[in-house]
Amino acid sequence: MSRLRGRFSAPTSEEMQRFSSSLKVDLEMAGEDIEGSIAHATMLGEVGVLSAGEAAELVAGLSAVAADLASGAWRPDEAEEDIHMAIEARLTAKIGELGGKLHTARSRNDQVATDLRLWLKRRLADLDLALGGLIEALLARVKNDGRVLMAGYTHLQRGQPIWLGHHLLAHTWPLVRDRQRFAGALGRLDACPLGACAMAGTAHPIDRQRTAALLGFATVSENAMDAVAARDHVQEVAAACAICMTHLSRMAEELVIWSSAEVAFVQLGETYATGSSIMPQKRNPDAAELVRGKAGRVYGDLQALLTMVKAQPLAYNRDLQEDREALFDAVHTTLACLRISTGMWSTLEIDSDRFVGEMVGDFSLATELADLMAAKGVPFRQAHETVGEIVRWCEEEGGNLSLLTAESAARFGLEITAEELADCLDPEAAAQRRTSHGGTAWSEIQRQVELLSSSD
Ligand code: ARG
Repeated sequence: MSRLRGRFSAPTSEEMQRFSSSLKVDLEMAGEDIEGSIAHATMLGEVGVLSAGEAAELVAGLSAVAADLASGAWRPDEAEEDIHMAIEARLTAKIGELGGKLHTARSRNDQVATDLRLWLKRRLADLDLALGGLIEALLARVKNDGRVLMAGYTHLQRGQPIWLGHHLLAHTWPLVRDRQRFAGALGRLDACPLGACAMAGTAHPIDRQRTAALLGFATVSENAMDAVAARDHVQEVAAACAICMTHLSRMAEELVIWSSAEVAFVQLGETYATGSSIMPQKRNPDAAELVRGKAGRVYGDLQALLTMVKAQPLAYNRDLQEDREALFDAVHTTLACLRISTGMWSTLEIDSDRFVGEMVGDFSLATELADLMAAKGVPFRQAHETVGEIVRWCEEEGGNLSLLTAESAARFGLEITAEELADCLDPEAAAQRRTSHGGTAWSEIQRQVELLSSSD
């Protein structure tokens, strides 16, 4: 569709029309575009730039366009350059020449900026809800299965015995921060750009505060050039999505490991597990793998958004039209992954006995022995050395710390009673001893659950 061609003598080439159109992607914010136009027309009528009758007619026409779009009676023509042109054309076809007055005191530059911020505000509410759902699912797991013993790892090597609740909370806190990050982004982007026009503002006596209020924005953007040129809010949301995806991906990775036959700590719920086309026995963690894989996609979206803006001179440049595909993808992907993760974590089964027998006398209790020596006044470095020798001896004997007796310990210089030794080598007692703030002791897990439940 060749529009805006008054100063040209030839239409744009078909190839250029196709190349330049963002209509398909814009469709997602068609509703926001019409809302912006209704607010703009209303304000123009109130300040007298348009007569009250004209404004009312424009608003009625725009509402009719919205209804046509919703019912499917109208599908924007993909030959239109963008959603703004398509809606204006439909409006004019419905109400006649008056439709051309809608664009008084605005530009597509501030229009698209407004649509995007409105769209973002809604999706940030969706993200907040989805994050809240996953946090809730994890907290429910902590309450129900939190007191299951497991090995805590560093370097994917057994470190110390912990409660599962401690591990799950370590996944929950980053999600709480993700929520805060999205809320912070929302606070910064909640300013209405409409009325900035191309970049210099307008001589028409508009009331930007009124338009902003009609659209539910907290405030207006302060500089007309910044209003149309800035995309840091788009980058910020994509960055928050990318960070959130890192968290979801780490959680997913653990589900893949935990559900393997080698670890067999969890079994994915049937509704989230998949089969194999050749191996009939398979119960694959595809959902977790897809979350892990999609993190890469969202990082790509963020990279695209950073790169596309970095060399743009002020103010608006057409490069900015490319922002939507990446932003929409980042947000939709993150939302889908949050929801699927919630499903996976709510339906999986945990083998609560998995580690119980295996952890008795396990080398992951070596720190207990060293800590006991340190508590008796031996410098921790020396205690570490001594327990290291004990570990080597147990390994040479082909067993674990269960081989140790008070007598054999004494040979290494570890003075310990039989009761102390039994307590040291009890993995549950070891987990329960760690009562320091944020430690794995059950009391600390409960404290965090309460904190997280009350902060909502
Ligand atoms: N389709 C454009 C976009 O999405 C709208 C703004 C066009 N402005 C312009 N001066 N060409 O960014």
